[in-house]
Amino acid sequence: MAKKRVAVLISGRGSNMASLIEAAKAPDYPAEIALVISNRPDAAGLAHARAAGIATEVVDHTRFGEDREAFEHALQAVLEQNRIELVCLAGFMRLLTPWFVEHWSGRLLNIHPALLPAFKGLNTHERAIATGAKTHGATVHFVVPEMDSGPIIAQAEVPVLTTDTPETLAARVLSAEHRIYPEALRRVALQLEH
Ligand code: GRF
Repeated sequence: MAKKRVAVLISGRGSNMASLIEAAKAPDYPAEIALVISNRPDAAGLAHARAAGIATEVVDHTRFGEDREAFEHALQAVLEQNRIELVCLAGFMRLLTPWFVEHWSGRLLNIHPALLPAFKGLNTHERAIATGAKTHGATVHFVVPEMDSGPIIAQAEVPVLTTDTPETLAARVLSAEHRIYPEALRRVALQLEH
């Protein structure tokens, strides 16, 4: 079976992107990371992707002002030019409109650093500590128009220690993210019809 062509969308560091690139090197992995797109020209992950021999594109959202759909049409054009079949958001810090999300329905994945539906949005590690949560974690889910919602594909739970700072907790969650995102993408790629 042909490997599914995947684009990873990033805005910054790109460590989840790197974990997907690494996993996709396995000969039996059902997807290839064909393209990395950043909405920020200075995203650190771009250099990592280039060094790994992956094609990169920048679609700078600031060129489109407040016009989210114009930005997304530019994104869509790049995805089509590259014959992309699945899109993975990995630290991509732009909200997507229903137009884009519905176009990619069932083929658009996101990773969120919390056990959804708990702690949607930003600063999840601070909030988990502040509320006294005993467990925290990460979720890979299909993207739907409502932020940090949508069918869950994979989750990993980690303990919250009494000694944790947001940084130590983030590091524990991040290593769980790096484990579950490649596994979730594998499952979705295997189930994709065409
Ligand atoms: C991760 O914690 C991810 O779950 C969240 O943003 C962070 C991105 O990190 N959406 P990286 O760019 O993948 O290193």
